[in-house]
Amino acid sequence: MITVSAPGKLMLFGEHAVVYGYPSIVTAVGQRMRATVELLDAPEFIVDAQDVDITSYKKKMTELGIGEIPKGVQFVEMALVNFSKKYPIMHGVYVKTASEFSSQFGFGSSSASTVCVIQACAALMGVNLSNKEFFDLSYQTVLDIQKTGSGFDVAAALYGGTLEFVKAGTLMEPLLLKEMPLIIGYTGVKADTTSLILDVKKKYENEPEKVKRIFEAITKIVTDAKQKMLEGDWERVGTLMNFNQEYLRDLGISTEKLEAMIAAAKHAGAWGAKLSGAGGGDCMIALAPPDKRKAVTDAITQVGGQVMDVPVNAEGVKVEKF
Ligand code: MEV
Repeated sequence: MITVSAPGKLMLFGEHAVVYGYPSIVTAVGQRMRATVELLDAPEFIVDAQDVDITSYKKKMTELGIGEIPKGVQFVEMALVNFSKKYPIMHGVYVKTASEFSSQFGFGSSSASTVCVIQACAALMGVNLSNKEFFDLSYQTVLDIQKTGSGFDVAAALYGGTLEFVKAGTLMEPLLLKEMPLIIGYTGVKADTTSLILDVKKKYENEPEKVKRIFEAITKIVTDAKQKMLEGDWERVGTLMNFNQEYLRDLGISTEKLEAMIAAAKHAGAWGAKLSGAGGGDCMIALAPPDKRKAVTDAITQVGGQVMDVPVNAEGVKVEKF
């Protein structure tokens, strides 16, 4: 039996553009998904995932990936399907998942559980996965289910820290940061990432030149932000967040609630703020000087946001108990 944990993620810069091959910056958040995995003698696949109301889901190992799979089991089951294509599993498998964060926040619980299950199976079966193989198996799992996405959530779960990331793991470069004065506010609204990606795709098809210009401008922001983050110039990074937010607004994915929280944060003294992720809800982020942190937190709360006390730059996937 083994217990593995992996962090959630937050997009700092470059969302949506990253789906089209442009760079992004992502950080891992210190709320973790945990999976306890055990190999069984009986050839059965059993899952308990209380957070998503799954109790004693059970099927034969020969039926893995076949038939209707409940939403709460999809990532765990498809992770096993993909792993066992390369490394046949001659046992039954029991998986129990537990999350420190709600799947509502958009912190990437699905990709974190995928990464946990693959790490657990590899360790239990004595398979030494290269980082590339590990990423590819996990990303394939996410694509099998979501059909779309850059894979940044998989990279954050796997490597942790803060990364410059390009689609499909073409580039995954750690940014070595000492601190990041980030404030995270949850809108209370669960975003539908896939439909927001499709909205942007439609916009891209209707106005390719305009959207391309937006993505190129975002790329310039990502490049500058990376440099300023490494220099610790958080005031400038905040300003770059404001620029990035303007382009995200142009893409049509911001909402009134996100805008209210962003405006409140800036009004209370944040250096900058933007939405984080697909838009349509989920979280916003802000950077603020230490003496303004409380005012910014209060301001976000006053307009109905929920400030999350979550460390960023968190450790990647790790074995907790073996
Ligand atoms: C969603 O959190 C961020 C997007 O860029 C999608 C992705 O990169 O997979 C919109």
